Amino acid sequence: MNLEQIAAKFQLEGTVDRVEPMGEGFINDTFIIRTKERETPDYLLQRKNKRIFHPIPAMMENIEKVCAHIKKKVSEKNGDPMREAMTVVRAKDGKLYFQDEDDEFWAVCVFISDTVAYQSAKTPELAFQGGKGIGLFQSMVSDLKEPLTDILPGFHNIRYRFNQWDAVLAKDPVDRKAKLSSEIAWIESRRDNMLDFWKLVESGEIPTRVTHNDTKINNILFDLNGEVLCVIDLDTVLNSTCLNDFGDAMRSYTNTGAEDDENLDAVSCDISIFEGFTKGYLSQAKSFLTDKELEYLAFSAKYITYEQVLRFLMDYIDGDKYYKIKSPDHNYQRTVAQYKLLTSMEEQYDEMCRIVRTVAAELD
Ligand SMILES: Nc1ncnc2c1ncn2[C@@H]1O[C@H](COP(=O)(O)OP(=O)(O)O)[C@@H](O)[C@H]1O
Ligand SMILES: [Mg+2]
Repeated sequence: MNLEQIAAKFQLEGTVDRVEPMGEGFINDTFIIRTKERETPDYLLQRKNKRIFHPIPAMMENIEKVCAHIKKKVSEKNGDPMREAMTVVRAKDGKLYFQDEDDEFWAVCVFISDTVAYQSAKTPELAFQGGKGIGLFQSMVSDLKEPLTDILPGFHNIRYRFNQWDAVLAKDPVDRKAKLSSEIAWIESRRDNMLDFWKLVESGEIPTRVTHNDTKINNILFDLNGEVLCVIDLDTVLNSTCLNDFGDAMRSYTNTGAEDDENLDAVSCDISIFEGFTKGYLSQAKSFLTDKELEYLAFSAKYITYEQVLRFLMDYIDGDKYYKIKSPDHNYQRTVAQYKLLTSMEEQYDEMCRIVRTVAAELD
């Protein structure tokens, strides 16, 4: 089946002119469906990655629930629900996806035109916009009570990771453990601290909400004036703590180096980026966050970075089964570089907490 035939399975307005591949995405294969008429939208066609997300039909239900909710919110404040929210387009049989003869899953949404997307946020101003985008998304779904299907079990759940970690260490399948005692101690010495946080999530003291879980800035569309339009790429929406979105963003935004940097001197947490993002995020999220969530906001950056150190090291000990590697010690290099970021956050933790408190107080 070719792309035009797949496009024809969906409820599109207008006549399909051509279907063009679109670069950038790592997870899904993305194409643009161009329509001939000026008044009909173009569409985004994606082959969803069923190796990462399953079941895809449940994932699409999650996306539709979130989009419908956001559209309602945008309409209530007289915004444009076709531009300030994603619009999922159903297949002609009414399903939210089309399953082809190779059992690949395809989905379509309206292509939002005249937008700007950024690939990275290296200035506090852009970090502010990224934080605002995620905060706005979270605030609009903060009263979405219908549960979502958990299509990524164990995601950012450190108890689940420790279970995997303990099993891998017990097995030590490629005999790497013996040489890694200090690196293993990095993980073990912080285990209780991380679990104490997760217990607050498990007990409900830190509430579970709708979260995005892929908070990269290229998942936010901006209008041509640089104002946040909407958050896209909703494949990973889950019920979890919003702190995970914040922490994950800070793990990637604030890193002055690369995730696998060989030059550890290049890796650190840029506190001005932390501050910019926090200001943007809290400008939207302060109104619905509880005191407990605010108290742990800065901690979440350490939590998510720690989890990543653990996951890289665990994969290295496990014989490199999960992450693709470019050299035999690639996972080790990633471990050490993420650990450098973690220690940089730890050194600046008091300052991070102070920033959160100050920014929150200014918004009172
Ligand atoms: N509805 C949309 N309107 C306009 N551009 C979009 C839309 N959805 C995605 N894009 C663009 O396509 C890119 C890849 O889409 P995305 O859904 O993020 O895929 P991936 O899961 O592969 O990251 C985005 O970074 C964005 O630039
Ligand atoms: Mg994306």
